[in-house]
Amino acid sequence: MVKLLRIGIVGCGAIGSSLAKEIVTNFGNLASLVALFDIRPEKAQFLSGKLTKSGKLCAANLDILIKRSDLVIEASSAKAAWEIARRSLSSGRKVMIMSVGGIVDHSNELPALALKNNAQVYFPSGAISGIDALKAANIAGVKKVVLTTRKNPNAFKGVEYVERNFKLSGLKKDKLLFSGKAADAVKYFPQNINVAAVLGLAAIGMNKTQVRIIASPYVNRNIHEVLIESKAARIFTRTENILHPQNPKTSYLAVLSAIATLKQILEPVKIGT
Ligand SMILES: NC(=O)c1ccc[n+]([C@@H]2O[C@H](COP(=O)([O-])OP(=O)(O)OC[C@H]3O[C@@H](n4cnc5c(N)ncnc54)[C@H](O)[C@@H]3O)[C@@H](O)[C@H]2O)c1
Repeated sequence: MVKLLRIGIVGCGAIGSSLAKEIVTNFGNLASLVALFDIRPEKAQFLSGKLTKSGKLCAANLDILIKRSDLVIEASSAKAAWEIARRSLSSGRKVMIMSVGGIVDHSNELPALALKNNAQVYFPSGAISGIDALKAANIAGVKKVVLTTRKNPNAFKGVEYVERNFKLSGLKKDKLLFSGKAADAVKYFPQNINVAAVLGLAAIGMNKTQVRIIASPYVNRNIHEVLIESKAARIFTRTENILHPQNPKTSYLAVLSAIATLKQILEPVKIGT
């Protein structure tokens, strides 16, 4: 008989809710959703009530959620991500991290902590394509990784760095807002943080991975292009993201990528790098 993987989700927003529904609806023969925790308890209660009649999935705190779970899925915030990963791994739990930007400063500690506790960490590719080829190419050697992100000027509303340095209203042509290393991009563009962080962690690091961010009045999707130059291949990918129906800050593909990662963990046949 298959032993069900017990899953706990931290953060019951757009991503956490989608994952929870997916686990209950489509992974029942391989996994079991055992706990939900949100810093706003009413969000965990609401989701729990939607998924089970008894509403018993809510955990009173993070430690209780970790205790109940084999896999902890972090879908909360960059600020909380490292603490959630650290405490889960220290208890020997597997962890899937969505708020990747919150982990980059701890990328050296992470593998050692996981190894010491016989645990694993998963970072879904998110809203970009090409991570599979990048990982393979990096074994022979990658010279260059450049991420070019294009978004509608409206997507930069409220971004402090942009509002301080640019006037985007009435923009008639593409405007380059940033060009530099991923380590700096994640500081100035927190909402781009996860894509740049996954790319940086996957191969040559946050200081060598380059990022360009462009405001374009001609696009209404979040477009990420990735250029990779390596000993094995020259790779170029372009992903035109449709926004998540419940959270316009999140790309739909990022949520689906987390579900696909979960499938990789659970299913006996694993396709792709
Ligand atoms: N890896 C990727 O490709 C990718 C893509 C999009 C978003 N993200 C990241 O995933 C995370 C979740 O995204 P979302 O769209 O679901 O956001 P959301 O705002 O819809 O939901 C986040 C939820 O987490 C809760 N939360 C915040 N801090 C918490 C804490 N310390 N403990 C417990 N719960 C807490 C909030 O109350 C909220 O309910 C964000 O950090 C976001 O940046 C990652």
